[in-house]
Amino acid sequence: MFYLGLMSGTSMDAVDAALVRFQNHHLDLRQYRQFPFPARLADSLKAISPSTPVIEIARCDHELGDLFAECAIQLMNAAGIPQSEVAAIGCHGQTVLHCPQPEVRNSLQLGDPSRIAWRTGVRTVADFRRMDMAAGGQGAPLAPALHVWLLGGAGLDRVVLNIGGIANVTIIPSGSDREVTGFDVGPGNTLLDQWIRQHRREVHDRDGTWAAGGRCNGEVLDSMLADPYFPRQLPKSTGKEYFNLDWVARHAARAGVGPEPRDMQATLAELTCRTIAGAIFNYAPSTSEVLVCGGGVHNGYMMGRLRALLGKATVDSTARHGVDPDAVEAVTFAWLAKCRLDGVPGNLPSVTGASHPVILGAIYEPGKVKREK
Ligand SMILES: Nc1ncnc2c1ncn2[C@@H]1O[C@H](COP(=O)(O)OP(=O)(O)O)[C@@H](O)[C@H]1O
Ligand SMILES: [Mg+2]
Repeated sequence: MFYLGLMSGTSMDAVDAALVRFQNHHLDLRQYRQFPFPARLADSLKAISPSTPVIEIARCDHELGDLFAECAIQLMNAAGIPQSEVAAIGCHGQTVLHCPQPEVRNSLQLGDPSRIAWRTGVRTVADFRRMDMAAGGQGAPLAPALHVWLLGGAGLDRVVLNIGGIANVTIIPSGSDREVTGFDVGPGNTLLDQWIRQHRREVHDRDGTWAAGGRCNGEVLDSMLADPYFPRQLPKSTGKEYFNLDWVARHAARAGVGPEPRDMQATLAELTCRTIAGAIFNYAPSTSEVLVCGGGVHNGYMMGRLRALLGKATVDSTARHGVDPDAVEAVTFAWLAKCRLDGVPGNLPSVTGASHPVILGAIYEPGKVKREK
């Protein structure tokens, strides 16, 4: 049977959709596509803030549910796979809030799963993060279990680095005597995207060209690097509610300088690369291979900086091992849907800090019941 994973991360660049089969340790990625967000919906989602009326959130939840359903239908059609061959859709949903702090401990994703199940006729699994949180975990990151399944067991110390809106690492030791760890390092592309959107009306800094032409501002960088999130102990996870343009403005003010926009872009790119390299030096100094997935892999400037900063370890795309770097997150949620149906825990307590391995997600059946005459 096939599983279909749907993911739209903090970047809101696209809905990633993957149709896969899992066979032993082989991933059969039958179809992968990125579906654009309708511009108006993307604007509504980006505008969501603590003061957004609940009815607006509900409207987005409904509209996203329909969009996700449409993406799933188009993907199945493109692959020529009927819904009867798809065991489940795993939909992450669009995060509007991720607050792992004990006083809130909640993570909210939009994209009504009932609408997805109803419109596709395929059982849908959603709400993957909160059982881990109920068990005392961060609810994130969840990709490490798949990273280990896909890229573990190589007999060398490996790090899988996902550079999405937020950057997260999975540290896979060569031997079974050491546990897998993983955490959100901090901002991946999100600050770069937000800054270039504000200053140049572009959605992202293609290949990092704008950053590459700027000069990193040492004072601002030092202030940002001193932020308490970076040295915080594990487990930890974060989101755009922490790393955003207000955060950037606060650090620029603290440093007492206002770099010109291109120099700030260079500073933000440097921040992403330094914090990633720092995390690897701290938690996985014997790493020999860093495998990169997520949209940041297409930023040649940052890949070059990472190579320079990491020195000994090689830095490559997961494509080097036959894994499409853009598809990994969507595949994660197809895989977690399978775990849910199989009754197998999907979290790694050594990563999320949960007290137990737990079964993640809730199942939404398509719900068509035959009426008695
Ligand atoms: N060619 C490129 N050059 C530079 N950055 C890119 C490129 N392609 C994608 N990106 C970056 O990757 C981001 C999307 O990454 P993705 O892994 O989908 O993140 P998320 O999971 O947050 O949606 C974009 O917003 C952009 O910042
Ligand atoms: Mg994305």
